[in-house]
Amino acid sequence: MPLQSKGSPCTVLIPREGQPNELRVGGSPETVRRLVGKGCSVLVESGAGQSSGFSDEEYRSAGAALLENGWGHCQVALCVGAPHPECLEAMAMGAMVIGLLSPYGNQALVHHLNRRKLSSVSLELLPRISRAQAMDALSSQANIAGYKAVLLAAAALDRYFPMLMTAAGTVQPARVLVMGAGVAGLQAVATARRLGAVVYVSDIRPAVKEQVESLGARFIEPPQVVEQPGEANGYAQQASAAFLEDQRNQLCEQLAMADVAICTAQVPGRQAPRLITEAMVERMRPGAVVVDLAVNQGGNCAATVPGKTIDHKGVKLIGAGDLPCTVPNHASSLYGRNLAALLEQYLQDGVLHLDLQDPLLKDCLLTHNGHCHRDDIVHASRST
Ligand code: NAI
Repeated sequence: MPLQSKGSPCTVLIPREGQPNELRVGGSPETVRRLVGKGCSVLVESGAGQSSGFSDEEYRSAGAALLENGWGHCQVALCVGAPHPECLEAMAMGAMVIGLLSPYGNQALVHHLNRRKLSSVSLELLPRISRAQAMDALSSQANIAGYKAVLLAAAALDRYFPMLMTAAGTVQPARVLVMGAGVAGLQAVATARRLGAVVYVSDIRPAVKEQVESLGARFIEPPQVVEQPGEANGYAQQASAAFLEDQRNQLCEQLAMADVAICTAQVPGRQAPRLITEAMVERMRPGAVVVDLAVNQGGNCAATVPGKTIDHKGVKLIGAGDLPCTVPNHASSLYGRNLAALLEQYLQDGVLHLDLQDPLLKDCLLTHNGHCHRDDIVHASRST
């Protein structure tokens, strides 16, 4: 179903992001070149790429037209976060928004999208099928978060990461505990191993064991309780309260021996599992560091605060929910490639055709033609 008059090229907008802390952008000059090559015309709001290190001139040279405000002139907007309601209001009826739209429980966003009959694609809902790998923005951004989390921990720790043999004697390697071995966790394992740490990993999915061991880390087997949490569509499912209790008991001893804990455990659409209580933090040695990547989803660790580093009885707690924004150039380059790969699926000679029966689109199409397609997601509540 074309979103514009038959045969006219799709006009794609790369806007300035609205959130003050958002340093990424929905497309790089490479994205522009790629989409222009597919027959699209691309508009870029001036200054859109500034905080990611992309100048207006680079976008222009890649084939984009620069303008001050492009919301009223595009068929497709490539965004990082959900646009401000005023931007949606300015869009043409039936236009489309693609981004990390935070769809869980977000009825207000759906209301604004439906008012203008906007189509919207939420990248959090992309199915984990091989065809979608090049579009997997959660993975491209989580990779960055896992890497940066270890660098933050290493910089904050009062010890070396590697084992060192010096004239003054031998220094033992740091002991790192990674919780959650999804994309961010595995990248954290790889980065900590490269820095020479000894790494232990906890995850509820037994399939992870082999991946963890192939990176040279040791896997902590999940607690053996009757009700094991499962996996669906490549995402973990929620663990029961009894399981989490057993898991915390198991992790308590591990944490007491750790120099660093990197927390990446998440369940999509739910509050992050609480794996570290305050009492567990207090059993860690003074000088140890906890980096909590799940802090914006309620936190794996009890006392972490979003965007803040706090000292809890000598243990440094780093609430790091927005780490991809701290590597904005590469984060935006990779994100732009994810979006271009997605859009290209529905371009024919530069004209947009959405196939609503496409299994990929079926999962991540949030709204279309005034209707919400994922009521299950939009009416979900973030229970524990
Ligand atoms: P995520 O960010 O949703 O969760 C991170 C990790 O936390 C997951 O490994 C999950 O099992 C773990 N977790 C949840 N509850 C936990 C608990 N109580 N204790 C310890 N760990 C807990 O997951 P992410 O990073 O998005 O990826 C999940 C999996 O999907 C990974 O194995 C990844 O390799 C795979 N994947 C597959 C893709 C594909 O195209 N087939 C693409 C991207 C990822």
